Amino acid sequence: MRVGYSSCSLSHSLYTTNTHHSLFPHTSKPIQNSSFNPFNKILKANLLKSTIPITQLPFVAALASKAVALKCGRVKEMESQEGIVVSTKPMWDFHGIDEEVIQKMIFDALVWSSLHGLVVGDRNSLRSGKVPGVGMVHAPFALLPMPFPESHWRQACDLAPIFNELVDRVSLDGRFLQDSLSRTKKVDVFTHRLLDIHSKMLEMNKKEEIRLGLHRSDYMLDEQTKLLLQIELNTISSSFAGLTSLVSELHRSLLKYYGGKLELDSKRVPGNSARFKFAEALAKAWMEYNNPRAVILVVVQSDEHNMYDQHWLCALLREIHGIATIRKTLAEIDTEGELLPDGTLLVGGQAIAVIYFRAGYAPTDYPSESEWRARLFMEESSSIKCPSISYHLAGTKKIQQELAKPNLLERFLDNKEDIAKVRKCFTGLWSLDDLDIVRKAIEKPELFVMKPQREGGGNNIYGDDVRENLLRLQKDKTEEDAAYILMQRIFPTVSPTFLMRDGICHKDHAISELGIYGAYLRNKDKVLMNDQCGYLMRSKVSSSNEGGVAAGFAVLDSIYLT
Ligand SMILES: Nc1ncnc2c1ncn2[C@@H]1O[C@H](COP(=O)(O)OP(=O)(O)OP(=O)(O)O)[C@@H](O)[C@H]1O
Ligand SMILES: [Mg+2]
Repeated sequence: MRVGYSSCSLSHSLYTTNTHHSLFPHTSKPIQNSSFNPFNKILKANLLKSTIPITQLPFVAALASKAVALKCGRVKEMESQEGIVVSTKPMWDFHGIDEEVIQKMIFDALVWSSLHGLVVGDRNSLRSGKVPGVGMVHAPFALLPMPFPESHWRQACDLAPIFNELVDRVSLDGRFLQDSLSRTKKVDVFTHRLLDIHSKMLEMNKKEEIRLGLHRSDYMLDEQTKLLLQIELNTISSSFAGLTSLVSELHRSLLKYYGGKLELDSKRVPGNSARFKFAEALAKAWMEYNNPRAVILVVVQSDEHNMYDQHWLCALLREIHGIATIRKTLAEIDTEGELLPDGTLLVGGQAIAVIYFRAGYAPTDYPSESEWRARLFMEESSSIKCPSISYHLAGTKKIQQELAKPNLLERFLDNKEDIAKVRKCFTGLWSLDDLDIVRKAIEKPELFVMKPQREGGGNNIYGDDVRENLLRLQKDKTEEDAAYILMQRIFPTVSPTFLMRDGICHKDHAISELGIYGAYLRNKDKVLMNDQCGYLMRSKVSSSNEGGVAAGFAVLDSIYLT
């Protein structure tokens, strides 16, 4: 940790307040209307009153006059689109906040995260990416959990096994994957390469009998309709299962101690077993491979800074399940890998039972042919791939958009109730050959998001850029439009929050995105695991379009059930 201070003499540099005036650039409703959020009032008071940048004032002195005890007890109801009351839990009526309590919480939270491994590599430290234990900094996190209606949380959890099954069914339909992505293939080199590997597997009639999926389905709760809407489903490198459960533990720990003062109950933060469940799924897959000498290969990026999230899973695999892991980049796998005639993959002479991809989802992961070679021979091997190329393609944004078309879900799912549940969380998704929608998006670009077939954050197009890009595509008359999909923009509630990054607390307005992890393991006809595996809450400054924590847009959060 680079910060040195004690709980009783906190420097004002620990704390900044964002007082910019365009606090709600993406929502038509001002903060005053954010009714279902119990933390709104507590923070609103401070945020709206702060006309002098807090960084110019001695911290404690600046806020001492505002330190007021918190009050609660008001009852609020939240109505869903169908007019059904979805939450009748008491909502708090905050008249202020005890800033001293917050200062103490900041200090305790920073100590807690250092002691419990809620850490990432510090980009300022050159050696942090190479040597474990060197150059660590706490992961970005929110100081308080984000209120979230229990009914919507349960709805999202219920969807996890259905989406797991859906991915598996879609992955088996090679023609559907190839056909749906055929236009995209012509204009997107990265998708082209992935499809080539997939084609080769189809030609070889390669069957993945043991299939492991570690997924994360991301949702936002639309403020106006109160609908839980899916942002996307990640089937490759679903990150933060390691760190997210620590954030829930951190919030529970803080509320156990400070909850009385804040009138918040630590038990309303649901337990989060993501790291244990993902390690369990990997261990079960390893067992199915049935070679006690084989190890799990974690495919990593060479400049990874979120390695402790991955190390958590590896440590649990070793400590709870007695399974060894090795970490290799795609380039290293190309150099050290060997495919035996019986399909066994050896890396550095060690047999690989499971290949767990934490890299390989972005074009930058393949700077040369070497990386593509490694991806291909891993796919050809008998190792269990997490994900296989089919699972990877099933998670592309184009496939998400195809599945939203009428009668498509029916092709893959049998149970009508399941189909209805999945459809309910789909928002508007369109291909760019829908000229009517393109026209609407040019007229009102703020209501849409334009997405290429990319993962890892920072690739989507928003606002006026949507209009500009659509007009350019119309003018160029190429097939480049096939590289994108259009998605209806979701507007979640904007809530004041405390965002912790680099040992500094920022007060700002944030929107949140809930991810639910899912694990699926199947051996031939036997489904060995199809579980919901905990959650990831991410909160980001409301003025930011993108949502990635690693990409620097968001912080890890947890939920406070309302
Ligand atoms: N329809 C939408 N409405 C509002 N915000 C959106 C929408 N789609 C995406 N976003 C925002 O953009 C972020 C990135 O979008 P998305 O998850 O589709 O891209 P990604 O590159 O696959 O990201 P990730 O690294 O999280 O997998 C989301 O986390 C969310 O904050
Ligand atoms: Mg994604």
